Amino acid sequence: MNHGLAFPDEIPTESALLEVLSEPSKSLIEQIGSISGPLVVVGAGGKMGPTLCVLAKRAAELAGHSLSVMALSRFSNEKERSWLESRGVQTRRFDALAESSGDPIPDASHVVYLVGLKFGTGDQPELTWATNTLAPARVAQRYRGVPMVALSTGNVYPMSEVDSQGSTESDPLTPLGEYANAAVARERIFEYVSNQNQSPMALLRLNYALDLRYGILVDLAQSLIKEQAIDLSMSAVNCLWQRDANERILRSLALVEYPIAVYNLTSPEAYPIESLAMELGERLGVAPRFVGSPARNALLSDASKLTRRLGRPETPIESVIRWTADWMGRGGRTLGRPTKFQVRDGVF
Ligand SMILES: NC(=O)c1ccc[n+]([C@@H]2O[C@H](COP(=O)([O-])OP(=O)(O)OC[C@H]3O[C@@H](n4cnc5c(N)ncnc54)[C@H](OP(=O)(O)O)[C@@H]3O)[C@@H](O)[C@H]2O)c1
Repeated sequence: MNHGLAFPDEIPTESALLEVLSEPSKSLIEQIGSISGPLVVVGAGGKMGPTLCVLAKRAAELAGHSLSVMALSRFSNEKERSWLESRGVQTRRFDALAESSGDPIPDASHVVYLVGLKFGTGDQPELTWATNTLAPARVAQRYRGVPMVALSTGNVYPMSEVDSQGSTESDPLTPLGEYANAAVARERIFEYVSNQNQSPMALLRLNYALDLRYGILVDLAQSLIKEQAIDLSMSAVNCLWQRDANERILRSLALVEYPIAVYNLTSPEAYPIESLAMELGERLGVAPRFVGSPARNALLSDASKLTRRLGRPETPIESVIRWTADWMGRGGRTLGRPTKFQVRDGVF
């Protein structure tokens, strides 16, 4: 079986992008048979969910395993729903904040939980808190006892010194701002329900997935193209290609534990913003302009614990930089959802 991943020179279209983002690796194909199904993905209609569901489906097909993948979301974007259905993923409209969702919520052998709300926290903090607390409480109670991987964020940590390895999973969760504190609450709710029911779970604290339609590299490329100055005060970041992030989410279904397991999900390296901007600028033919002085600390996470379990993420950052510069240089579609990675006061 040769399922080496493809790292093409360029990704010319959105359909080619979806193929690359949902291409399973050999490790995932080998592991997917241990999920009997249905695999339910909650919050599947956002930036990561669609390609995560299809990644699981394609891995199962290549393994000769008839895995049922069910995507639950409100599907504010109907296009994502049609694409999922066309790729063999069943979909169900589901609002985790509604008193009753109408249809009964399907049973699952395993659950991936992706629901979250970050942006708009400054304007509507109550919605951020409800989405990050009431929704996980309802879903975790519904699936008590079922193995679950739930997404969290590296924003649950305070900043760490740039010359350190970044925050580790046992560090205190004392972040700044309402979004990050609501994200801590989301984790504690999963932990509480896990303890109540001895549910095997894993929390994954993700720092920045990279797609060609959003992500830190897209933000930097947009600034370069618009000849805007790039703020260096958040001097370094961790980030990884979204396919690798989704693959690690699915492979973490084998890492669920009671008491709850916690892993940082990010790149083993921290990347200086200045170097990323210089490399993108060179490919785009634009000399970057910088403002702000690099602070001594930044939002960084130590990925060693998950790297020891799953190995390194497979896609080199150089490939993602090349794809992004090419995509953005050609005016490729973006989602209009900046990461705001520069934010240092916790207000998103
Ligand atoms: N992408 C990243 O770089 C990144 C970084 C750090 C952490 N994370 C975490 O990873 C998770 C997935 O990331 P993402 O980028 O895919 O997030 P996202 O784009 O915000 O997707 C989450 C999706 O959840 C769905 N949702 C929201 N409220 C819901 C509700 N009440 N009931 C049912 N579904 C609801 C929404 O889709 P519908 O409109 O279809 O309901 C939303 O698009 C999030 O929890 C996020 O905190 C992501």
